[in-house]
Amino acid sequence: MTKLEKIVLSYSGGLDTSIILKWLQETYGCEVVTFTADLGQGEELEPARAKAEMSGVKDIRIVDLREEFVRDFVFPMLRANALYEGQYLLGSSIARPLIAKHLVGIAQEVGAHAVAHGATGKGNDQLRFELAVNALDPSIKVIAPWRQWNIRSRMQLLEYAEKHRIPVPSDKRGEAPFSIDANLLHTSTEGKSLENPAEVAPDHVYQRTVDPVDAPDTPEIITIGFERGDPVSVNGKSMTPAALLTELNGLGGRHGIGRLDLVENRFIGMKSRGIYETPGGTILLTAHRGIESITLDRAAAHLKDEIMPRYAELIYNGFWFAPEREMLQALIDQSQAFVSGEVTLRLYKGSASVISRTSPCSLYSADLVTFEESAIAYDHHDAEGFIRLNGLRLRSWAARNGR
Ligand code: ARG
Repeated sequence: MTKLEKIVLSYSGGLDTSIILKWLQETYGCEVVTFTADLGQGEELEPARAKAEMSGVKDIRIVDLREEFVRDFVFPMLRANALYEGQYLLGSSIARPLIAKHLVGIAQEVGAHAVAHGATGKGNDQLRFELAVNALDPSIKVIAPWRQWNIRSRMQLLEYAEKHRIPVPSDKRGEAPFSIDANLLHTSTEGKSLENPAEVAPDHVYQRTVDPVDAPDTPEIITIGFERGDPVSVNGKSMTPAALLTELNGLGGRHGIGRLDLVENRFIGMKSRGIYETPGGTILLTAHRGIESITLDRAAAHLKDEIMPRYAELIYNGFWFAPEREMLQALIDQSQAFVSGEVTLRLYKGSASVISRTSPCSLYSADLVTFEESAIAYDHHDAEGFIRLNGLRLRSWAARNGR
């Protein structure tokens, strides 16, 4: 084993990363710096400081990354209307490159040659962390304790904790809990009974959205303002990116918006079933498509839709910091120059629907589309010729087939 002087650990303060912290200190006999990011997971972060201190950590970093997360990661992704496999809004996928970026930054600052994370050996998150670190600083080694130690079961994990006097909260003593990952964009829940896709998810897995059945019987109308593809206001009130997403999470949660029960294909090769709650993100996706509908040229919009699955897959697979993602991002960002205006939506029992849209840069022409007599020159004979030429090959084809 190479001698390491310092390791920067992505640390939540929870049981698993507390065990990892101890294991790193024991295995490498070196200083461990902890990094805890506030991504809006809704958990108190100060307890993480106390726990790290108790484990003898001298350099404890707790950083509020909410604005950076939404501004530089979530919003750029939303400009693409990104969905993995048609449905998943990528809430966990998009958070990992940000955490990796800060792990690398701290490592460079304190002169550490390694970073460590608590992702398991079967999931996507290990790829997202490690590919990002590779892309940002190839000199940094990544330690993934879950792939290295010989702890193979929950029982062994708890035994290790007992042996090293790491406090195990009572709710973590019994069988394995759900695996939950939360941030400002989503909450994802996997494991336990959810591992059987035939089993209906119990109500209590949902944490930030009400059941649409229990949502208010009166719809709520909201207006979202966009500038160059990014949301900037709610009901006329300007907000920072994180404040705006927080506001929409509240509204969406109350109306039961953004629940998803999904079986997806992990990059590593297996299928997995998870429950996602993405209230604000779901509203924003619908609203963004609404503003694009009047501001984007048809070919531009269709090109975006063609590359979207590829772009989403890159993020899902962990290639945020990769040249092809940056190339696609440049294309997407350029398309957004005129995506400004306002979208009004109706929130009602699990759905967010666009009911009106306006823009100073609209391409929509009522004059052109109207069924009434129009002032704009549109010659119906042009349509006749257009159809005749488009039909030319179809007539040849049908004649050859003997129709
Ligand atoms: N399957 C999701 C993804 O790969 C979520 C992964 C993390 N979630 C969790 N509950 N551990 O993006």
